[in-house]
Amino acid sequence: MDIYIDTANLDEIQQAAALGILDGVTTNPSLLAREGTDSQTRLEEICRVVRGPVSAEVVATEHEPMVSEGLALAQIADNIVVKLPCIETGLQACKTLSDQKIRINMTLCFQPLQALMAAKAGAFLISPFVGRVDDVGGDGMEIVQQIRQIYDNYGYKTKILTASIRHPQHLVQAALMGSDVATAPFKVIQQVMKHPLTDVGLQKFLADYKKLQESLPHHPALA
Ligand code: G3P
Repeated sequence: MDIYIDTANLDEIQQAAALGILDGVTTNPSLLAREGTDSQTRLEEICRVVRGPVSAEVVATEHEPMVSEGLALAQIADNIVVKLPCIETGLQACKTLSDQKIRINMTLCFQPLQALMAAKAGAFLISPFVGRVDDVGGDGMEIVQQIRQIYDNYGYKTKILTASIRHPQHLVQAALMGSDVATAPFKVIQQVMKHPLTDVGLQKFLADYKKLQESLPHHPALA
């Protein structure tokens, strides 16, 4: 499963990239607004750090302006993926831009039929927002499972990008369900390698090794 980071913060992106497991980045207007800097410049900076897909979202809501904005975003770098909302005009723009070989991430997906339509319109990625569904008492991961089955039934190549991830369990479930990609905030990426038993076990290994070194003649104790 590919792992993207869901942020427009350059420090977080650099730190996640340094782990060696980062495959891409997702941004949205809210994440870019949080940075308080020019969006185009920030997207250029992000694309220099990460060579995998970097999603950049349009803010237009009508077909023609969406297409123009998508074309402009695609000019920023060759790894930009244009993000369009799962609304009718977004679907139309998805078809128009996909036909021009521009990769599209259909975002704000909350039900499987939106994902079926996005695949028919040629989307590269579909982004079900699992955390926001959970927030209102639904089961976000169930939508991912339904999309997986629909795509597999018909052989659609659109990749499922599980988004709006809140905790590591969302990542586990995404991987078990066969989500192609998961995008997580930096906080969640930092959590994935943590386990108290790993820390306790490592301390014991190191303490036992040190004890052995100290007991051996001619071997200076470890500092
Ligand atoms: O990638 C989608 C994401 O940015 C939405 O996450 O946490 O705002 O629901 P959230």
